[in-house]
Amino acid sequence: MSMVITNIGELVTNDAGFGKGRLGIVQDAAVVVDGDRIAWVGAASDAPAADARIDADGAAVLPGFVDSHAHLVFAGDRAAEFAARMAGEPYTGGGIRTTVGATRAASDDELRRSATRLVTEARSQGTTTIEIKSGYGLNVADEARSLRIAAELTSETTFLGAHVVPAEYSDDPWAYVSLVCGPMLAAARPHARWIDVFCERGAFDADQARTILAAGQAAGLGLRVHGNQLGPGPGVRLAVEMGAASVDHCTHLDDADIDALASTRLDCMCADGGHSSTVATLLPGAEFSTRSPYPDARRLLDANITVALATDCNPGSSYTSSMPFCIALAVREMGMTPAEALWAATAGGAHALRRDDIGRIAVGARADLIVLDAPSHLHLAYRPGVPLIRRVLHGGVPSH
Ligand code: NIG
Ligand code: FE
Repeated sequence: MSMVITNIGELVTNDAGFGKGRLGIVQDAAVVVDGDRIAWVGAASDAPAADARIDADGAAVLPGFVDSHAHLVFAGDRAAEFAARMAGEPYTGGGIRTTVGATRAASDDELRRSATRLVTEARSQGTTTIEIKSGYGLNVADEARSLRIAAELTSETTFLGAHVVPAEYSDDPWAYVSLVCGPMLAAARPHARWIDVFCERGAFDADQARTILAAGQAAGLGLRVHGNQLGPGPGVRLAVEMGAASVDHCTHLDDADIDALASTRLDCMCADGGHSSTVATLLPGAEFSTRSPYPDARRLLDANITVALATDCNPGSSYTSSMPFCIALAVREMGMTPAEALWAATAGGAHALRRDDIGRIAVGARADLIVLDAPSHLHLAYRPGVPLIRRVLHGGVPSH
């Protein structure tokens, strides 16, 4: 069944060769969706007939948001830890073990229900692709079931057995690294597309992280890294050295980190001027919720490094599923223009997941679209906290 979207105020295609600027904005456009794909994009006056019609009533139409970093399989919350931080306590990542305890104690159904609720919440805010990590099980059975549940909700599943060293291995972190690289990876592998490591003081050092990433790579998983969140460290350079698709947080960067990321830039003939093969994914919800200084997005963008924005949705450092909130933070606090932030939240996320079928509105791409309750994408940051997502098409199916 085909559907034509007409009366679009502003169409953001992310195809710089097709429309204006980096967002490839087209006025007076129409889009035709056929099944789960985009079948036609062009001037409204030339639109072919279709079985059904959506009248956008002058609103902006955008690619669905690509949230390339989320931790949705967990039990309980850590609201008291948040309150303590707002009263001056620092964030250390120590609370991860609290969530591990609650997650291990939860039933499959409890975990499934709460992860499903978060995916639905994200979808109603315009997210059409979401990556989901494990990382609150930290034993073979609980990591495997976290990924099984994640795989019911998304194809972008990430094995994060190397989130922190669980209490029972405190005295022998290398024994835990062996467990992660051996039986845990084997149990996780059938349900995972990616492997991720938290490379940070208090979690895994560079040697441990490299060992884990190499094991994941040998098992056929793509690589992602949590790095340079709480302080300077080796995470970014390790991600580049290993050819990771993305290094996430990037809050504390020095010149060598910027140079390393910039060195991964591929100067292809893409309409958007090329991209870095290791994307820097920024997670401003984490800085908001931990009251830490925001990363310097300008420095990355000025070095032509590909930047993605994601929520990091998790019960400790960033309990938001809202990409519009992250866009507003990136614009207000991180020196990004509204256009840069929207690109990062759509095409940037697609690059971070090494996908070219999402994050843009073009013939052949997935029919993942948002109709805003506003005439322009500028309103996402200009009207923060306002529910501006009027409709969502997910693979051509209206889901909100
Ligand atoms: O990305 N930094 C590591 N992991 C999560 C936080 C997890 C938690 O605090 O529960 C993050 O911020
Ligand atoms: Fe994270």
